[in-house]
Amino acid sequence: MHILVINGPNLNMLGIREPEIYGRMTYDELVDYIVQKAEEANVTVEVFQSNHEGAIVDKIQQAYGHADGIVINPAAYTHTSVAILDALKAVAIPAVEVHLSDVKSREAFRQISYAGQACFHTLMGEGKEGYAKAISLLKLTIEEREQQ
Ligand code: DQA
Repeated sequence: MHILVINGPNLNMLGIREPEIYGRMTYDELVDYIVQKAEEANVTVEVFQSNHEGAIVDKIQQAYGHADGIVINPAAYTHTSVAILDALKAVAIPAVEVHLSDVKSREAFRQISYAGQACFHTLMGEGKEGYAKAISLLKLTIEEREQQ
């Protein structure tokens, strides 16, 4: 089973960026954690980060026929990007939305999620653990669907 993890803009700045919200973990530490959790779950993983909406759309399209599941933290594009929503719908790969922070307790402009509308589950406010839970949930869901 192969899982694609997509991280959107400014997540490469973790460790520097607003530590009171996102903590001190660096982006490299987050990637190491995701890779370790994927290994423990016995799935292969690719972790992709981009600050560019089109690059994220391209990556989702390229996942068609290759990835069994997608974990996506679209970061700020969560709240703006119909293009990312449409790409997720186009490939119809089972997807889980993750946010490090508790988006629902933040600003009004963060209360809409476009990408989340193409995801079967959302995890927020659990920091890096949200990614581990998303991988486990995807694995379980994909296995269940395969048995149907
Ligand atoms: C975020 C929440 C978004 O609102 C924000 O724009 C981000 C990060 C999170 O992981 O908590 O960049 O997706």
